[in-house]
Amino acid sequence: MPKSRVGVLISGRGSNMAALLYASRAEDCPYEVVLVAANDPDAPGLALAAAEGVPTFARAHQGLKRAEFDAIIDAELTRAGCDHVALAGYMRLLSPEFVAKWQGRMVNIHPSLLPAHKGLHVHEAVLAAGETVSGCSVHLVTPELDDGPVLGQTRVVVLPGDTPDTLAARILIAEHQLYPRVLAALVQSRTSPDALLARVRQLALALPEAEEKLSHGSLGFFVRGGKFFAYFSYDHHHDGVTGLLVKASGVEEQAQLIENDPGLYYRPAYLGPSGWIGIRLDTGDNDWQHIEDWLTRSWRASAPKRMAMLPF
Ligand code: GAR
Repeated sequence: MPKSRVGVLISGRGSNMAALLYASRAEDCPYEVVLVAANDPDAPGLALAAAEGVPTFARAHQGLKRAEFDAIIDAELTRAGCDHVALAGYMRLLSPEFVAKWQGRMVNIHPSLLPAHKGLHVHEAVLAAGETVSGCSVHLVTPELDDGPVLGQTRVVVLPGDTPDTLAARILIAEHQLYPRVLAALVQSRTSPDALLARVRQLALALPEAEEKLSHGSLGFFVRGGKFFAYFSYDHHHDGVTGLLVKASGVEEQAQLIENDPGLYYRPAYLGPSGWIGIRLDTGDNDWQHIEDWLTRSWRASAPKRMAMLPF
């Protein structure tokens, strides 16, 4: 299984970027850092990333509209083939377009136990409130600042005599542990065969009278009283591919689809000559609506006539 490709956005020191990068060097880490980009060409983290052999990109945001600047960063992420984005001390509000593009695939780390203490001057606020516990959170990025579903948190005790700096330093240790772990889990949940199968199964079995059974070593979905309409293919014939096989209209459409998008579609080994099409599920960037549409179409082509007419 290829590793997910992560772009890390920074504005300064980049110690969380370094934590993500060094964690990614473990063989079993499901992601690699393929780009470090900054909105400040002097961000110290850039020099470290470059010295570690990671491609970098820097552009000062001054003078550019938010959406314009984000489009430049987005183009770099796309050029680097990123499928996930990690914000690591990226001190910029993001445009709605950028957030929408990466929603579900973009995470941020924040040095508080969210939803408490969003924004800046977090540690000052924790101490002023006399709190005895603080910590850090990793969350999916949504349009609201420091908002979005929390994916993981670590609690850090506030010590008597803590200053904002001493508390920040201790929380930073926790951040460096938490961030790689949560990013790895997110990436895995989006690309692991088990997670992909669970999602496909949910969609396939939601179709009328759909059932599943093993067929020639692959899990197939069929319409009761009808034929198979989909197969989940995992490393079949050791091709390393996780994909969904559905019925196209024939080999002509199959060839067209592959020609138009060779990164997404492929010709499956046994069912290829019968006009089935393989859709890769392991790119880290699945369009589930598109997959659901294919399942529905394939279901219609396989269901007994009386059922294929059903409106749903
Ligand atoms: C980290 O403490 C991170 O949690 C915080 O900035 C610091 C960046 O340090 N981020 C935020 O406050 C985001 N709202 P780093 O550059 O060494 O990773």
